[in-house]
Amino acid sequence: MRVLSGIQPSGKIHLGNYFGAMKHHITLQDNNSAFYFIADYHALTTVQDAKQLRENILDVAMDYLAFGLDPERSVFFKQSDIPQVMELAWVLSTLAPMGLLERCHSYKDKMAKGIAPNHGVFAYPVLMAADILIYQSQLVPVGKDQKQHIEVTRDLALKFNQTFGEVLTVPDEYIMEQYAVIPGIDGQKMSKSYNNTIEIFADEKAIKKKVMSVVTDCTPVADPKDPDACNLFALYSLFAAPEEKAEMAQRYRAGGMGYKVVKDALYDKIMEHFGPYRERRVQYEKDVDLVKDILFEGAVKAQVVAQETIDKVREAVGVKI
Ligand code: TYM
Repeated sequence: MRVLSGIQPSGKIHLGNYFGAMKHHITLQDNNSAFYFIADYHALTTVQDAKQLRENILDVAMDYLAFGLDPERSVFFKQSDIPQVMELAWVLSTLAPMGLLERCHSYKDKMAKGIAPNHGVFAYPVLMAADILIYQSQLVPVGKDQKQHIEVTRDLALKFNQTFGEVLTVPDEYIMEQYAVIPGIDGQKMSKSYNNTIEIFADEKAIKKKVMSVVTDCTPVADPKDPDACNLFALYSLFAAPEEKAEMAQRYRAGGMGYKVVKDALYDKIMEHFGPYRERRVQYEKDVDLVKDILFEGAVKAQVVAQETIDKVREAVGVKI
């Protein structure tokens, strides 16, 4: 099956990205034809500093490789290296109703916050649809925050096919319910833009500081506590084995345990879980040229598929004479 997903190089990778998406991307490499890319042109809607964007792109690339993305099995590349995506985005934008895009969270949230969005933010879902449709993707593994964008993609693919003939594959979303929305340290969705993330490859001190600042209620140490209403417990549960989770829940309910105990346990789990990835990442940091080569080789492979689709699209819409 053709699996595809992307991540914006708009900041440091956090637990939400990993559990909501990247972890599943690694698993889905087995038995699928997986395409994963760095959505650098999407990030340009917010990161408008060349040095920063370059750094972010390489950072995300090294993160992915450290997690186990295997360039022998998956096609791994940068969005901007596939110009066919931009061409398809234009074709799709001629089919995208303004009202549909006006209803998209990516744009609506910025408007609600009084931020004047640029056209890139407004057109963001169309570019995302092109990312997906150009590779005839069947399954798109993402966190829940991207659900609406996949729906727009499906709408545009159907509309294209109805208007011009069956050319594009209509994809399905793949959202792991258990990890659909990973909470941040303040209990809202973990997000770079809310400044509530726990970054996976930050130094140990910074991670500790973030974990210690996870917001909890003020129930006194001696009193029983409700694990199901606790954001800290939700984060701990990401790492704990079922019996560890059950034991911790029992300690919550029994009372006599302060939140510091859970924070320490969460910190240990994070360091233990990501320890091997942190080590592997250091190897890539020492060989940035290798990382660039991997992305280049991935782009060559991705372009072959993208070109096949764009040829069909040109023919179908009538620009090929
Ligand atoms: P981005 O870069 O915001 O996030 C990358 C992936 O991480 C998931 N994610 C989360 N999942 C659960 N809980 C959270 N708190 C959380 N925070 C982030 C996201 O759902 C996503 O899967 N528009 C995309 C990038 C993109 C893309 C694509 C994805 C561009 N084109 C085509 C798939 C297919 C984005 O901004 O992801």
